[in-house]
Amino acid sequence: MPETTTPFPQGFLWGGATAANQLEGAYAEGGKGLSIQDVMPQGIMSPRVDGPTQDNLKQVGIDFYHRYATDIALFAEMGFSVFRLSIAWSRIFPNGDDAEPCEEGLAFYDRVFDECARYGIEPLVTLSHYETPLALADKYNGWVSRDLIGLYERYVRTVFDRYRGKVTYWLTFNEINSVLHAPLMSGGINTPKEQLTKTDLFQAAHHELVASALATKIAHEMLPGSQVGCMVLAMPIYPLTPDPADMIAVMDADHANLMFSDVHTRGAYPGYAQRYFRENGIELEITPEDRDILTNTVDFVSFSYYMSICETADPAKKIAGEGNIMGGVPNPYLKGSEWGWQIDPAGLRIVLNQFWDRWQKPLFIVENGLGATDELVDIDGVKTVLDDYRIDYLNDHLYQVGEAIADGVEVMGYTSWGPIDLVSASTAQLSKRYGFIYVDRNDDGTGTLERYRKKSFGWYADVIASNGASLRPSR
Ligand code: BG6
Repeated sequence: MPETTTPFPQGFLWGGATAANQLEGAYAEGGKGLSIQDVMPQGIMSPRVDGPTQDNLKQVGIDFYHRYATDIALFAEMGFSVFRLSIAWSRIFPNGDDAEPCEEGLAFYDRVFDECARYGIEPLVTLSHYETPLALADKYNGWVSRDLIGLYERYVRTVFDRYRGKVTYWLTFNEINSVLHAPLMSGGINTPKEQLTKTDLFQAAHHELVASALATKIAHEMLPGSQVGCMVLAMPIYPLTPDPADMIAVMDADHANLMFSDVHTRGAYPGYAQRYFRENGIELEITPEDRDILTNTVDFVSFSYYMSICETADPAKKIAGEGNIMGGVPNPYLKGSEWGWQIDPAGLRIVLNQFWDRWQKPLFIVENGLGATDELVDIDGVKTVLDDYRIDYLNDHLYQVGEAIADGVEVMGYTSWGPIDLVSASTAQLSKRYGFIYVDRNDDGTGTLERYRKKSFGWYADVIASNGASLRPSR
């Protein structure tokens, strides 16, 4: 056997990432209240509806609520050392502001964490992943209201206390910077985006930032040894041309994203943000106590990475391409996925270096993957999917993670998005599949919910077993 080497450090955490609303189903079982996902049957781009409708695939999801044990066993079979999942806030506090938590909801995650522990899998828990309790959107207009800070605090204290000893790694808000682009999904904000003032939008972002820092403070006090990360949507932005005006446009667009992790890692708003607030008439209520809480900085920075975009100062060239929540100007050098998300493995190395150079905090890639249509085939009586396209995508991105580690970047782990097929956040489809495990459920809700190992299942198991040594070089 030739000797293989790997840049991935010993103890690198390998696994997959999910969110409660996209896989659990059981939307009204176990005392659970509704979340904003129950009024978003068509995903982020469509307006909200009034109440739960039967066309909402998330009501059943992939039925993880009832099948978690067999699903976690499959993750263990691939060798996962970490499993990212979110706690549905409305399973714990059905209305968000209830006096007492729901015991059935708490007990469900006990069972899930205990199952992970059986296989030595570390849970990586997102406290809020696009599933604000609906009552908080309707009664308070979501994170626009300062009241949400206290309600979130009560929720995190409850779950920190309950899962003491079971969970070490916590993420405060999924893709916290996405609140600027998808206020309802990300911030539970009922006011339609077009009617929302910039002051309200940034006030909501501020409330989330304070709540996030508060959760970090509380975790450090209540759970010695725990590690808390912020989670941002990472999207490297390239200038469309070498025109300095394009580069300034890149800098401005970058700042809008980086502000969130700058606050999380430095404990205060950067100068460029203050200038932006000043020049846009944004007057935020930031109390002395808020400033104090913000100094509780995170232990690590986590992020999702799917694609890069370009930016230009030339309005005539500002074409809106498809993308993960925020699209951008398409890059003429890159190809897109079936959903038009441009594929750029090197962008992952770039973003890892950018974040490390900027913050020197350990980094955790907690989402990355290819959404594609899969065809279930029968090979010698075994149902599978020959998803070489997914293997290529993941191989190329992971190879670039190794390159970044060789560059000196500290990377804690990697969880691919949707290790098992689940409902898409943007389009609410099941046919946009990310998994190593195929789930027999279709966009019209038909299907047996049976699980089948795809070709990528064995491929990922080999990557994990070899700690990345089996990866092929990529550009
Ligand atoms: C991220 C979200 O933005 O992208 C996930 O955190 C989401 O919830 C993922 O599922 C992939 O996006 P989509 O729209 O293909 O599901």
